[in-house]
Amino acid sequence: MYIRRQQGRNRIWTARIRAGLAGVLVVALLLAASAGVLAAEKRVLKVGSDLTYAPFEFLNDKNEYTGFDVDIIRAVGKALGWEVQIINVGWDGLFAGLVNGNYDCVISAVTITPERAKTMSFSTPYYTAETGQVIVVRKDERTIKKPQDLAGKVVAVQINTTGQYAAEGIQGIKQIKTFNTTPEALQDVMNGGSQAAVIDSPVAEEFMKQHPGANLMMAGPPFTHEQYGIVVRKNDKALLAQINKGLELIRKNGEYQQIFQKWFGQGKK
Ligand code: ARG
Repeated sequence: MYIRRQQGRNRIWTARIRAGLAGVLVVALLLAASAGVLAAEKRVLKVGSDLTYAPFEFLNDKNEYTGFDVDIIRAVGKALGWEVQIINVGWDGLFAGLVNGNYDCVISAVTITPERAKTMSFSTPYYTAETGQVIVVRKDERTIKKPQDLAGKVVAVQINTTGQYAAEGIQGIKQIKTFNTTPEALQDVMNGGSQAAVIDSPVAEEFMKQHPGANLMMAGPPFTHEQYGIVVRKNDKALLAQINKGLELIRKNGEYQQIFQKWFGQGKK
C-alpha cells in the first residue's frame, strides 16, 4: 500500500518535472529565437579598403587586417553597436565598388579633396596630423630637393592618388609612371626605373622604417597638407551622420586617442 502510494507520488513528480523541463525548454527556445532575431538585426557595416598602405591599412604577418584606419572603423562600429566587415579591394576600383554598392563606406587613407567631394561624401576628418605629399628618392640622389627639381625626371605614383595629382601639377616632369600600389611605386625608385616617388608622408616614413635596407630617403618636407576622411556614397546622408556620430563618440570616450598613440606614438597630435 505504502509502496504503491510512493510509486503514485513518484509518477506525479515525474510528470511535474517533465512539464517543468518542457517549460524551460520552451523558454530557452524562445530566448534563442529572439537572440537570433537580434543577431540578424545587428547592422553589418561593410567597409572597402586597399590594404597595401601601412600604417593605415595592411596585412600583418598572420595575414590579419590591421592598421590605424582598421582600428578606427572597428571602434566606430563598436560605438554604434554595429558589426564591421572589411573588404580588401584594389585602390583603383575602390570608389567604383562603393558606388556599385559592394560596401557601404571606404576607409583607406582617402584625402578629402573638393574634386572628390563632388561625387562622394566625406565624414569629418579622422586623421588631421601631419600628412601630405613627400618626394622619396634613392639615398644617392643629389639633384632632387624640392618639387620643381622633378622637372625632366621620371616620377612614380600610386594611380589616382593625390600623389599623382600633385605630380601632375609640377611643371616639366618627363614621365609620371602609375602603379596599383604605393609599395610598387617605391620599388620602382629602388630599382632605378624612376628617380622619385610622390606619396603620403606617413606611408613614406613607415616604409623606410620597415625596410631599413631600402636605400630610400625623403627629399624635403611634405609640400601639400591633407586630411583623411571616411567616404560614403554621395547621397547616403543617414550613414554619414551615423559615422560622424561614431567618430565623435570615440573621440569623447578616449578610444581615438588610444588608437592614435598605438600607431603614431605621442610625438604627433
Ligand atoms: N591619400 C592619398 C589619396 O587619397 C592616397 C591614399 C591611398 N590609400 C591606399 N589605401 N592605397 O589619394
